[in-house]
Amino acid sequence: MREGGFPSASRCLLYTATMIIAQISDTHIDLENPLGVDRIRNLKQCVDDINGLDPLPDVVVHTGDLTNTGKPAEYAEANRILSDLRPPLYVTAGNRDERTALRAAFPAYRYLLPESHFVQYRVDEFPVRLIILDTLTEDTNKGDFCAIRADSLSVALADDVSKPTAIFMHHPPFEVVESTYPIQFESQEAMARLSAVLNRHGHVVGAFCGHTHRDTAGRVGDVPVSSTPSVAVDLRLGDYPDAVRSVPLYQVHRYDAAQGFVSELRPAGLN
Ligand SMILES: [Fe+2]
Repeated sequence: MREGGFPSASRCLLYTATMIIAQISDTHIDLENPLGVDRIRNLKQCVDDINGLDPLPDVVVHTGDLTNTGKPAEYAEANRILSDLRPPLYVTAGNRDERTALRAAFPAYRYLLPESHFVQYRVDEFPVRLIILDTLTEDTNKGDFCAIRADSLSVALADDVSKPTAIFMHHPPFEVVESTYPIQFESQEAMARLSAVLNRHGHVVGAFCGHTHRDTAGRVGDVPVSSTPSVAVDLRLGDYPDAVRSVPLYQVHRYDAAQGFVSELRPAGLN
């Protein structure tokens, strides 16, 4: 497999008319922070809420920053909680994650590709094809998308244009006007490189990100792109109703061919 490629994580072909994706992000599990206990509880609340949804989501995607410092013990704790999920879980690397430790913590998740530098892969078995991107830089907390990754994404997208495709990545490739740093990528060039690939493929129907810790959305050309609040309540940014001030939030993205994606920001544990 070439570096940065997109091997399929498919296990079987099973098509249904619709698809439901639960997205959680920025859990920042931290065993040394006094607030770490709360973050563990926040993640557990989301897992329990997802498991209680009817219908059950087809998949859960974590869009990065599973842990706060990338320590193996943090991943072990995250894995302990996430292993209770009923739907299959696909994880994305965030700037707080450490690729080697991430892979080591989830040895059953062969899609994490121990033989590859980048944590990026595709999931082909659902009505919406999922492509998980690695937008990490080596040195900063901002995003990057080098030519190797852009070429790999182009190949993966061109490989099957018959299915709608959703992209999951940590850093949002649009200007987040509410942020203290509206451009979330290290360079405009990197963001433009990613945007150009997405815009060349009309079967990309949505892109979903984390990193901003807030509920925000934008577009890349014709592609709607959103970023979800951090599951870690103490790190969440933005204004929310008092009723959910201490409640973790996650997204449920429902897809059907007629409407595309309709997304719901869901408070975990509130009915
Ligand atoms: Fe984060």
